[in-house]
Amino acid sequence: SSNFTKQIWVFNNSDAERIYLYANLLQKLPWKANPQHLDNFRRELNAETNVSTDRDLILTQTNVQLDQEMPCYFDTKKSMLKYPHFVATKDFMSTLPKESPLKGKRYEKCAVIGNSGSLKQSTCGSQIDGMDFVFRCNGAPLEGFVTDAGKRTDFLTFNPSILYKRFGGLVNESMIESYITFMKQYDSMVWYPCFGSRQLVEPCIKAISYHDQVDSRLVIGHPSHYVSIWEFWKRRGLRKKPSTGLYLVSLAATLCNEIHLYGFWPFPIQLHEGKVQETAYHYFNNLPFTSHHSSDSEFRLLLQMHMLGSVNLHMGTCT
Ligand code: CTP
Repeated sequence: SSNFTKQIWVFNNSDAERIYLYANLLQKLPWKANPQHLDNFRRELNAETNVSTDRDLILTQTNVQLDQEMPCYFDTKKSMLKYPHFVATKDFMSTLPKESPLKGKRYEKCAVIGNSGSLKQSTCGSQIDGMDFVFRCNGAPLEGFVTDAGKRTDFLTFNPSILYKRFGGLVNESMIESYITFMKQYDSMVWYPCFGSRQLVEPCIKAISYHDQVDSRLVIGHPSHYVSIWEFWKRRGLRKKPSTGLYLVSLAATLCNEIHLYGFWPFPIQLHEGKVQETAYHYFNNLPFTSHHSSDSEFRLLLQMHMLGSVNLHMGTCT
């Protein structure tokens, strides 16, 4: 890996060469917004999915029926037989909002922040904070990373698996306390995809029950919305389930007139000031690269959208 700190070198690995070319392409070509191309994508999404952001992004009292069974989209047929479906009881229904807080909303400039380590040393924070609406993924921490990743957050996803990874499944008071303290850094809408795995439904609903102790608005994702977007991408050749980042880019297309992406770089090396550097998978920890998604295909897809002017895939430092 020390080879990569040199300005020029012999590529003995075509992957490294390809990543180098992507980085060069993104950093050197000027980007121009093409609202027509973004609109084409928006129309295709609307025409080819049976969901709408206004009606189906989050669970509300109108898009779920009393006593409705809620299957989980990542569960297999076998596990569905093993565990009974969650049923929307009267109590559960009463916790849901009457309608989506995003209903009828449209924003001029949005940013979707991926969690890549490429954000480190980017100094993109103030550019990100200057946007009209900022989406973030998977409880991305703000404190300590503001210079590079900004702090503005309007929509944050919070995968229920994080409750186990970071807050011990909220099984005791001290775990609950640290979860609530962590959540206090946000003042946004927090979207929990509770109906991915049956086993995570109750902990997920428990996480939302602390809504009066945090400043954010905690909402539940409607499973049909994610599934419909997933099917859209499946029909376009995506092999694995879309990542949260790609899901949010699709969502942003329905809410925003211009889309800027930061922190989308699923590669272990990057270009920094003309030199190749190793890159962490996340900007906020040193976990190794792991992904359950078709990260490479997703990146090439975003690159295509960048070339079309539908999204601006920011790479490198912000000046
Ligand atoms: N991402 C990226 N490059 C990285 C890390 C993340 O492009 N090096 C994007 C992906 O679109 C990802 C999103 O940023 O979905 C959020 O990152 P992360 O929290 O790491 O997502 P995953 O753990 O892959 O989980 P998920 O299943 O929620 O996508």
